[in-house]
Amino acid sequence: MKFYTVEIEARRRLGAYTLLSYRWPGDGIEAGRFVMARAAGYPVTLDPFLARPFSFYDFEGGVASLLFEVRGRGTALLDRARETIEVTAPLGKGFEIDASTGRAALLGGGIGVAPLKILGRELASRGIDHDVFLGFLDAKTAAVADDFPGASVATMDGSAGTRGTVLDAAPDLLGYPAVYACGPNAMLAAVKGAAGQDGLRQLSVEERMGCGNGSCNGCVVPVDGGYVRSCVEGPVFRAEVLAW
Ligand SMILES: Cc1cc2nc3c(=O)[nH]c(=O)nc-3n(C[C@H](O)[C@H](O)[C@H](O)COP(=O)(O)OP(=O)(O)OC[C@H]3O[C@@H](n4cnc5c(N)ncnc54)[C@H](O)[C@@H]3O)c2cc1C
Ligand code: FES
Repeated sequence: MKFYTVEIEARRRLGAYTLLSYRWPGDGIEAGRFVMARAAGYPVTLDPFLARPFSFYDFEGGVASLLFEVRGRGTALLDRARETIEVTAPLGKGFEIDASTGRAALLGGGIGVAPLKILGRELASRGIDHDVFLGFLDAKTAAVADDFPGASVATMDGSAGTRGTVLDAAPDLLGYPAVYACGPNAMLAAVKGAAGQDGLRQLSVEERMGCGNGSCNGCVVPVDGGYVRSCVEGPVFRAEVLAW
């Protein structure tokens, strides 16, 4: 997989998360697609050996941004990178947007809010009205919701917004012709159940990834009759395709 060294344009904290932007002269950035990123690669370092997958948070004026939560070694090093990082070209299949479907509901859980910013921008540019519902553990992680004006927020501990899950902050999803969601699998399964089978229902999964290009089978998700790789057949799937 080819990696490009890109200069960091800006970095700031968005609540508990880091927003890091870089100039991307190429094309291919769309809501729901992702990039494999690392602070540096060989011959500077082999630590960590594998790059990590991140959704595009936004793309405007040739500047791409990633929103991430520091979880382990890979994200800690990205958080500390000051001048450059290494990224692949945009990967995977993003969200389908169909202007004929009507009003959309966007649901994000935790760092699963990441692809909803650019998705909201793309929906707005196509004239599609949408409502945003965000769920977090607590007020600290919920602070990123300030970047989503008008969003309804839920926290598990009740320290911000409605107490409960993202579904507790959302009205009946059956009334939405289009539903888009990103977050942990348990949340996506709950959204799938609540959204019903009519209309456009799409879920972006966050399976751990090794290669990001379809060659390691490390990112499979169950579908009827077997498994598919979420890095190439996803990470966005029609809800009815996923066997959970
Ligand atoms: C398509 C896709 C898009 C993603 N987009 C984003 C994003 O926009 N922002 C963001 O912060 N993260 C995103 N992730 C998750 C991100 O890739 C992981 O948080 C990252 O790889 C962790 O690397 P690390 O080296 O810091 O942690 P590691 O040292 O690899 O792991 C630290 C801890 O985090 C857990 N962990 C690692 N990866 C995942 C995962 N995918 N799901 C659940 N737990 C995990 C591990 O089990 C371990 O407990 C995305 C994942 C996928 C597949
Ligand atoms: S991450 Fe290797 S096949 Fe998907």
